[in-house]
Amino acid sequence: MLARAFRPELDAKRLRSMYLDFFKARAHAVIPSASLIPDGDGSVLFTTAGMHPLVPYLMGREHPAGSRLTGVQKCVRTNDIEEVGDLTHLTFFEMLGNWSLGDYYKADSIRWSFEFLTGSETLGISPDSLWVTVFDGNTDVPRDEESASIWRSLGLPPERIIFLGEEDNWWAAGPEGPCGPDTEIFYDMTGQACEAGPECSPGRCGCGRFFEIWNNVFMSYDRRGASLTPLPRRNVDTGMGLERTLAALTGVQSVYETASFKPIMAELQRLSGRSADEIAADANRLKAARVLADHIRTATFMLGDERGIRPSNQGQGYVLRRLIRRGVRYCEQLGLSPEQWVGVSDIVVREYGEVYPSLAAQADVIRSELLSEKDRFEATLARGVKLLERELERLRQEGGELLPGQTAFRLYDTYGFPFEFTQELVAEQGLTVDENGFAKAAIEHQERSRSEAAKSGLADDSVESTRYHTATHLLHAALRRVLGEHVEQKGSNINRERMRFDFSLDRPMTPLELQEAQSQVQAWIDADLPVRQRVLPHAEARSLGAIGLFNDRYGDEVSIYEIGDVSVEFCGGPHVERTSELGRFQIKKEQSSSAGVRRIRAHLTP
Ligand code: SER
Repeated sequence: MLARAFRPELDAKRLRSMYLDFFKARAHAVIPSASLIPDGDGSVLFTTAGMHPLVPYLMGREHPAGSRLTGVQKCVRTNDIEEVGDLTHLTFFEMLGNWSLGDYYKADSIRWSFEFLTGSETLGISPDSLWVTVFDGNTDVPRDEESASIWRSLGLPPERIIFLGEEDNWWAAGPEGPCGPDTEIFYDMTGQACEAGPECSPGRCGCGRFFEIWNNVFMSYDRRGASLTPLPRRNVDTGMGLERTLAALTGVQSVYETASFKPIMAELQRLSGRSADEIAADANRLKAARVLADHIRTATFMLGDERGIRPSNQGQGYVLRRLIRRGVRYCEQLGLSPEQWVGVSDIVVREYGEVYPSLAAQADVIRSELLSEKDRFEATLARGVKLLERELERLRQEGGELLPGQTAFRLYDTYGFPFEFTQELVAEQGLTVDENGFAKAAIEHQERSRSEAAKSGLADDSVESTRYHTATHLLHAALRRVLGEHVEQKGSNINRERMRFDFSLDRPMTPLELQEAQSQVQAWIDADLPVRQRVLPHAEARSLGAIGLFNDRYGDEVSIYEIGDVSVEFCGGPHVERTSELGRFQIKKEQSSSAGVRRIRAHLTP
């Protein structure tokens, strides 16, 4: 299929600035990209759309920058990770967006989108190449005749305005919260119907003719359980996928051939000693190159995020671990070493460092974290694969087809094999993993650790434990000062006699660093700092720089504890009133806790 090459010279930089300038000229304030880790309620691991960081404001709170906003948001979506390597799927992408918080609504939103797409000063797309879909209505919300009529008034013929149902034209960031009908804008790549004939239209035909480039959501409802209520203000949330739009407009075959990926692909070609054509000639090799390009880009952005994600066995860290380990496995297919592959992160930092300064600032950490995760994986890979091979051999002899969940859990827990990775290895042998058995093993393991935690007195609020609790906040703050802001608490365990504190670090601390951390905590104790609890909206808590886990929530509010001006953490307490109540603080031991996590044991004495 021949795509209509439209603006071959367009690249990410030009598209970003063109977009932001257009909306700035329409009184929008430019807001910076938020972290890849959302502030929200923990229901999603990553920021998956530009609107994520704006949820509190879509719900009615005043935004400090005003009621018209625009920006570029870095996003991660990993639910389609198996699809990476096709023409459009990526685990990391940038989303351009403009938002109205109770300001303009459908008429301006649609008109501006149309003007931006077709204007000669901006994208200059012929209106003939545009198709749109609008919401067909359901029992709760009527058919969106208003949007359709706005599109018609702009000159779009009725046959290119397609009404579709909830599956296509209703958008929500999650099962609860702000949502609404949307109108999606498609670029017609060929101008020719496929063999589906009149049925060849957006949302109905998957022939690849239509590329969705923009989604305008009219966020005007709030979903809570089964109930859908109108929001106090009607908002607009639009999102334009940058890589997809570039691919469509520059007439390349896939997102991997856009300017955003060119330098990364070129480096992979160079390292593998193969030309682009040689790679493209072999489907496996092509997929490997695309997966490696995608995963190194995403891993670099995760490690270089403001809230630096580190490989681990849970949450965001687990997704990162899975991406890196998946990448290491694909290196062989392209014929380069894992070490060479992780080095490609330098290209990602170079290409994106200007727009996302936290990448540039953390270039060294990114590189060293990638190398250590690769080393950890390689070290356990051989042993784990041996174990797996033995188990598979046994299974075959017994004539079974299902690898027991216990074995998959052991590979996960002891050898750091992401579950999906085991699944892929087993699938290569034509067998399957008992997924339920794996889940059961994981839950049993969790219950065991919980009852161990309970035995250790984690839940008690004795005077002693309360003092240790405050000490963990001071130690957390001190470690971040001594070792850097990338250090994060990974857990803690307190009883009346001692505290344990787990945190992310990929190497042992030096004696000097330990000394510094201990003296810093002691200095804060001696300064007799006040400890203060506050309950406030979570966006405000974040803006105060609150760190830590986000567990103590009261409706829309969160509880934070501030210690003097040295520490702000999300926490439900209890804590002492002044730091002098802590006495003498001594670090007794620093050791490894698990891959990439260190553990400090410390005592307080009167
Ligand atoms: N939130 C909508 C989307 O992600 C529009 O930005 O498609």
